[in-house]
Amino acid sequence: MGRVSSYLHGTSGVEQRRLALLNRLVNQGSLRELGLRKGEKVLEVGSGLGHFAREMARQVGRRGRVLGIEQSRRQLLRARSTQSFSRAASLEFRQGDALHLPFEEEEWGSFDVVHARFLLEHLLDPPRAAEQMVRAVRPGGRIILEDDDHDLLRLDPEPEGFWRLWRAYMRVFRLLGNDPLVGRKLTRILLGAGALPRRNTWIFFGSCSGHPNFRAYLENLLGVLRGAREALLSRELIHATDLHKALRELRTWGRRPDASIWYAIAWAEARKPR
Ligand SMILES: C[S@@+](CC[C@H](N)C(=O)[O-])C[C@H]1O[C@@H](n2cnc3c(N)ncnc32)[C@H](O)[C@@H]1O
Repeated sequence: MGRVSSYLHGTSGVEQRRLALLNRLVNQGSLRELGLRKGEKVLEVGSGLGHFAREMARQVGRRGRVLGIEQSRRQLLRARSTQSFSRAASLEFRQGDALHLPFEEEEWGSFDVVHARFLLEHLLDPPRAAEQMVRAVRPGGRIILEDDDHDLLRLDPEPEGFWRLWRAYMRVFRLLGNDPLVGRKLTRILLGAGALPRRNTWIFFGSCSGHPNFRAYLENLLGVLRGAREALLSRELIHATDLHKALRELRTWGRRPDASIWYAIAWAEARKPR
């Protein structure tokens, strides 16, 4: 039997709220870089709660189409329950695995754009997922991957105990068979999957005290770490006392007038050869 990667963040109500918050922070940057055109047919792999799929559906308009593929029934339920958003575009959510996309023969090679964000970091086999995405896009179409490179995170001034906790968090990814540094590898993953790399960039994902969205960034970071509590403690990657102390320090740090979070999402684009 193959190894199974469990999804680290889970799908609890608290985590769904964090994911919704994350979408509010990052969607505009992702949309700007994507540059979708009216009428395009888009595949969103690992569509989560569907927030970004809905944004893309607005962009491609009535003549376009967005299909979201998501493995979790719970996420799909939420995505579908808020689907009344836009009559302007056709949007569908379908249950499926990024490593075995649930397509009929005629759907392969039919999408203009294939996009995945914060997905490859949770997969045992990111190259296989990229191959599926390249197969799904039409010749000449675009494949866009956005993902984390957790090593990029910098907090200043550094909150006490934070790095120990962050390093332990990155180890959880490795122990689950996932890659916490997949962001920097996106271009080579796209080439390996048969696509021709065209462009890479970073989407700034940070803030500093005094900015209206600083609290939201801090809440997202605290949410990610709180959500990994069980995974961290059950694997004895950090002692419970150190974990709670580091989280307390981080919360207190958030009240400093000079606190800053520096982070970026790795973004890579390629085209399928004609
Ligand atoms: C961190 S969330 C990101 C959701 C969305 N892409 C976004 O940016 O808001 C990752 C999502 O990928 C889904 N996922 C994880 N492994 C998957 C797989 N093998 N196939 C499809 N979806 C998967 C999870 O259930 C979760 O909803």
